Amino acid sequence: MQAATAYAHPNIALVKYWGKSDDELNIPATPSLAITLGDLRTTSHVEESASEVVVLDGEVVNDAKLERWLELVRKQYDLPLLHIESSSDFPASSGLASSASGFAALTVAISNAFDLGLSLEDQCDWARLGSGSAARSIHGGFVALEPEEDTCRVSQVLDASAWDLSIVIAITSDRAKTTGSTAGMTASRDASPFYDGWLRATMEAFDQCLVAVRDKDFDTLARIAEASCRQMHALMLSTEPALIYWNAATLNCIEAVTGMHEDGIKVFYTIDAGSHLKAVCEADAESHVSERLSGIEGVHSVITSRIGGPARILV
Ligand code: DP6
Repeated sequence: MQAATAYAHPNIALVKYWGKSDDELNIPATPSLAITLGDLRTTSHVEESASEVVVLDGEVVNDAKLERWLELVRKQYDLPLLHIESSSDFPASSGLASSASGFAALTVAISNAFDLGLSLEDQCDWARLGSGSAARSIHGGFVALEPEEDTCRVSQVLDASAWDLSIVIAITSDRAKTTGSTAGMTASRDASPFYDGWLRATMEAFDQCLVAVRDKDFDTLARIAEASCRQMHALMLSTEPALIYWNAATLNCIEAVTGMHEDGIKVFYTIDAGSHLKAVCEADAESHVSERLSGIEGVHSVITSRIGGPARILV
């Protein structure tokens, strides 16, 4: 029986992706740059089956995004019906990007189980067709994604061991987000007066971020990443009807991180399409940041992670 298991880590963008230039090919309108969360993972097992079954975190599901992706893969490769089991060791659907690690792990598992012989570039392409951010989870460390005409260039800027940073995630809700990323970014493109300004600002931020990461310049990276996060959420807020992902605890955490930064601690925040706050800090500040965020009103729990490596095959 042809089968394989692979895992991938989620990633968080420091320069955010929010908007597509091509919906069909799922090409982001702007470049983005992310870090890989090595202590969190999604594991995907795939095997040939008499009927197609998808089990996500222990539940049989009909996942429209996954079904559409499998259809695309089948246009190019002769795949049998599949039994897919995918599980994450972190909360899904809440801005922690389980679709990124999920599509990355699944791409690697399918490629290995059915000997598709996908190159690293092909893996990034297939992962991206599932979810834009998934292409970044194929690589590890600091990863750049740059749109090209009908594809994207995905590359590692620094490997996981090059810069000892830590990520502290403050979980501020146990509810799934109300609007998913795909629908949300389409809405922002169609119904925010700020969309063009967002695209311009993001292109500039990406170029500056590349330099800051290569130079391991924490303070510059902190400024660029926080600005990109706030600009994305300003775009979301200016979308009609508004996309509001933050809650009171998110704002409490922003205040705490800003306070720590003012006290000289090397830490900055970023927030995706959900209410959790991710604090990125120098590794020796991790326990202080973690303790501080744990004590904030509205924070349910805190998860810490170091920067991790690429998606990998297990068996
Ligand atoms: C806020 O990659 O989930 O996390 O390509 O439509 O699947 P689709 O979107 P997705 O969007 C990620 C949005 C984000 C920012 C980011 O990761 O860059």
